[in-house]
Amino acid sequence: MKKFNVGIIGATGMVGQRFTLLLSRHPWFNVVCVAASARSAGKKLKDAVGTKWAMTEPMPEDIGNLVVLDAEKDIDKIAEQVDFVFCAVNMKKDEIKALEEKYAKAEVPVVSNNSAHRHTDDVPMVIPEINPEHIEIIPAQRKRLGTKRGFIAVKSNCSLQSYVPALAPLHDKYKVTKALACTYQAISGAGKTFETWPEILDNVIPYIGGEEEKSEQEPMKIWGKIVGDKIVDATEPNITAQCLRVPVSDGHTAAVFVSFEKKPTKEEILQAWKDFAGVPQEMQLPSAPKQFLNYFEENDRPQARLDRNLEGGMAVSIGRLREDSQYDYKFVCLSHNTLRGAAGGAVLLAELLASKGYFDR
Ligand SMILES: NC(=O)c1ccc[n+]([C@@H]2O[C@H](COP(=O)([O-])OP(=O)(O)OC[C@H]3O[C@@H](n4cnc5c(N)ncnc54)[C@H](OP(=O)(O)O)[C@@H]3O)[C@@H](O)[C@H]2O)c1
Repeated sequence: MKKFNVGIIGATGMVGQRFTLLLSRHPWFNVVCVAASARSAGKKLKDAVGTKWAMTEPMPEDIGNLVVLDAEKDIDKIAEQVDFVFCAVNMKKDEIKALEEKYAKAEVPVVSNNSAHRHTDDVPMVIPEINPEHIEIIPAQRKRLGTKRGFIAVKSNCSLQSYVPALAPLHDKYKVTKALACTYQAISGAGKTFETWPEILDNVIPYIGGEEEKSEQEPMKIWGKIVGDKIVDATEPNITAQCLRVPVSDGHTAAVFVSFEKKPTKEEILQAWKDFAGVPQEMQLPSAPKQFLNYFEENDRPQARLDRNLEGGMAVSIGRLREDSQYDYKFVCLSHNTLRGAAGGAVLLAELLASKGYFDR
């Protein structure tokens, strides 16, 4: 695979910091520029981030020495240097929508972590193991935008990156009719650390703005189908969610209840999880976990501290599968919210797009 030049828009943020680490050692992607708000522009990335650096590893030196560009004012300068950008910015939804479209119209493909375009019906929202075929909508999006290369592709919200993968092979085989998910979400999902958010210690906060809607609605697009020049959402399964913020640094856990049209045995569920592999595994994409879904027999697993980094934080951990008195089964699952759930998931999506030629000139 040839090398692609890449920009990180929102490089100073929590997800942006993850990108710097993942991309500094990436075999295909080479970071040539970084951008953030006007507050950071003109400083070296390492100085703009300063004490906001929240990763356990140090910032990669070469990327840390790049001078931060202004994400809004320097689009043309960025477009001259890159084959595509990753975008993870904290702005108002309509501002993000407009910003991402400006990049696409400057012929820069955008791989986005932001929610702004997740329900734009010709923007693919992809979990590469589950709905890789949705990237085939990109020619229709380019036609609408009037671009040759530029387009927007997004990844889904971090809250659902454990239970949608766990449900996916079961839905294919046994048709999930309804599912209930309670999520226990880490503070890095709010761009916070224990230092910047001491109020979360010894606490649980029963509200994360917009998260329950995303957790219920985004799976419908992921299980949707391309019809003409749109992705049409699925109407089933019926998903209901409650999302809580808990004092965990990284790793979103979900407690899931599920019913099926054709109830499988416990052994059939375990086998479906074990056998599940998608395009990223078949193509051996660099960030793809070898075993996507991992079942733990121990009653006290998965645990955020022990299991979030499985396969570089790109695998999903599952445990405690058992029958339920109101639904068919219940289980617990976990994924790393800033790796699989954010930067890592976006890098995997970019690898899929690169390998299918969507960044070619
Ligand atoms: N954290 C997660 O686990 C997670 C998971 C999935 C998706 N996301 C999404 O990813 C995005 C970023 O999240 P985050 O947690 O990384 O946020 P964050 O830590 O608050 O970082 C926000 C980034 O946006 C930049 N920014 C703010 N205002 C801007 C402006 N007017 N123009 C250009 N850049 C601007 C900031 O630059 P300055 O430093 O210069 O202000 C910073 O680089 C959000 O849309 C979030 O919903 C996050």
